[in-house]
Amino acid sequence: MMYTPVRISTIRPDGALSFDLYILFKDQYVKYTPKGEMIKNEVHSKLKKQKVAKFFITEEDEVNYQQFLDAVLLETIENPDIAIGEKINVVDDHASHNLTQAYKDPSNPEGFKKTESAAKNLHSLITQNKEAFKEMLTREVHDNELLIHHCLNVSTYATKLAILHECKEEDQVILSLVGLLHDIGHGQLEENHRHLFLKNKSEMSEEEKKSYDLHPEKGVELLSKNPLITKEITDLISIHEDNLEKKGKLTLMEEILSLTNNFDKLVTFRKMSFKEALSLMSRESLGCYNMELFNKFKQLLKLEKLL
Ligand SMILES: [Fe+2]
Ligand SMILES: [Fe+2]
Repeated sequence: MMYTPVRISTIRPDGALSFDLYILFKDQYVKYTPKGEMIKNEVHSKLKKQKVAKFFITEEDEVNYQQFLDAVLLETIENPDIAIGEKINVVDDHASHNLTQAYKDPSNPEGFKKTESAAKNLHSLITQNKEAFKEMLTREVHDNELLIHHCLNVSTYATKLAILHECKEEDQVILSLVGLLHDIGHGQLEENHRHLFLKNKSEMSEEEKKSYDLHPEKGVELLSKNPLITKEITDLISIHEDNLEKKGKLTLMEEILSLTNNFDKLVTFRKMSFKEALSLMSRESLGCYNMELFNKFKQLLKLEKLL
């Protein structure tokens, strides 16, 4: 049987589960709460606090779990009585699970449709709620999901910059989507190179650098097999590690993706503060980004009190 990890924050203590919930104990998957039963409130809050326990569902229950996540999202996102912080947690849980599934099986059209709907949810939340941007970028980091966390961040920054630049709504949503999908190629590298995104490029061997540089192309190769993916999406993904210095000329959407990707790599993978990341980029990346866009980004972070 195949098992998929799930976050304990997604499991509600107030209703019967529509899937079996497993825990990993001494290398064995043990059924913790069977379908149809509830997790007691006090047990749930204890587990949430401890953060040690890892929970799983079986592959067979994936559809049931997805339906459950969709229902929670629907009842949370439109409810005016729910605080923005809670809404962001639910959107993050939902998008992270779907994106993890899409990254595992990139050519599956179902995974793409779910990623597309996650992008639309994120876009409408950022458009409709002025606190959503900051809440999203300061949400909890799950250390075992750093790549997915980074992709959600890039999507958030890129969406906001596209809105500030008054890009067409259609283009804003494309950037929300490309932000989520841009690093899908990492999983296609040789197994020992799949976590190179955690390493600083200056510390990579020549062989590692070569392999790392292939991830945009590998992502495009796979996504192109999916009939729902447009050329606009794959073109953007193929340049996401490039910049003005390398390319000479980039479109506004390409520049937004390149800038936000490179900025968030410093924050999420190298654990820099927003301020440290920004000053490193100002010192070392002169000529890599359009100054007007870079200054607008800086202004945005200042206005949102992230610096
Ligand atoms: Fe990348
Ligand atoms: Fe990236």
